[in-house]
Amino acid sequence: MAVDNLLLLFLFLLTFKTGFSAEISVFVQTGDSVQLDIQTQKLPEFDLLSWRNDKSENVVKYISETKGVKPLNSYKDRVDFNDTTFSLTLKNMQKTDSGLYTAIASGDSENNIATYRVSVIDAVEAPVLTVNSNWFSGNFCTVNFTCRAHDLMINSSYQNNRCIAQEVTSQINTLNLNCSEESIICNHSNPVSWKKDRINIAPLCVNNKGIWPDTHTHTI
Ligand SMILES: *[C@@H]1O[C@H](CO)[C@@H](O)[C@H](O)[C@H]1NC(C)=O
Ligand SMILES: *[C@@H]1O[C@H](CO)[C@@H](O)[C@H](O)[C@H]1NC(C)=O
Ligand SMILES: *[C@@H]1O[C@H](CO)[C@@H](O)[C@H](O)[C@H]1NC(C)=O
Ligand SMILES: *[C@@H]1O[C@H](CO)[C@@H](O)[C@H](O)[C@H]1NC(C)=O
Ligand SMILES: *[C@@H]1O[C@H](CO)[C@@H](O)[C@H](O)[C@H]1NC(C)=O
Repeated sequence: MAVDNLLLLFLFLLTFKTGFSAEISVFVQTGDSVQLDIQTQKLPEFDLLSWRNDKSENVVKYISETKGVKPLNSYKDRVDFNDTTFSLTLKNMQKTDSGLYTAIASGDSENNIATYRVSVIDAVEAPVLTVNSNWFSGNFCTVNFTCRAHDLMINSSYQNNRCIAQEVTSQINTLNLNCSEESIICNHSNPVSWKKDRINIAPLCVNNKGIWPDTHTHTI
């Protein structure tokens, strides 16, 4: 109980110190748009509302008296500001646009009403599945294979109509492997995209008599 209260107090102080907003992390795919909303229901009275980037440039300034909106020249063609919701939409995002964006309402005092950590990243590259070996033992087909993408790799084995599902990660990338009865599926993903590779089992599990032991009865 005491610990809970302490934590609440701590969170309150943290919120108090930073204005209203905790930092929100958003990922955007290169070339896409992102909409940044203010993070408070009750906006304090203000004369000027501005969205700032981490070079302390005002990407957009909004004067409440005149309802005038003034975008920074370098953002002019790719920014939308909604003067009802005060949200900022940035279009055609590039990696160099990554960074901190804050919304500040200035009146008698300055209040931070939104903070975003924006990361602009590319779509993932497709993973590649390769078969290392395939053979029969008794009636069971086994396929050893590797899935690779970027700096991630999984070696695995398909046996008895299945494989063990596996996942490896590095930073924000994830490589995920799973099998169904018919195929091996490898999925490479990051917060903005995913791509997969797939291998059909059937052609790999034809035995030396040219048949599928699992689905055919062999009679001489
Ligand atoms: C501003 O946002 C509101 C609420 O989402 C929407 O209804 C309105 O059309 C938007 N205005 C502009 C100019 O985009
Ligand atoms: C197939 O992979 C298993 C482990 O996943 C390994 O023990 C075995 O030696 C491999 N076989 C071949 C022929 O590469
Ligand atoms: C996967 O197998 C390849 C060769 O078959 C080997 O070079 C590599 O170290 C293995 N990687 C892992 C993560 O086991
Ligand atoms: C792997 O695939 C099987 C069969 O499609 C499915 O039942 C299982 O839930 C999957 N496992 C994971 C971890 O996705
Ligand atoms: C691949 O992974 C992503 C992220 O986890 C997921 O949204 C997507 O549905 C997966 N695709 C397949 C084919 O499993």
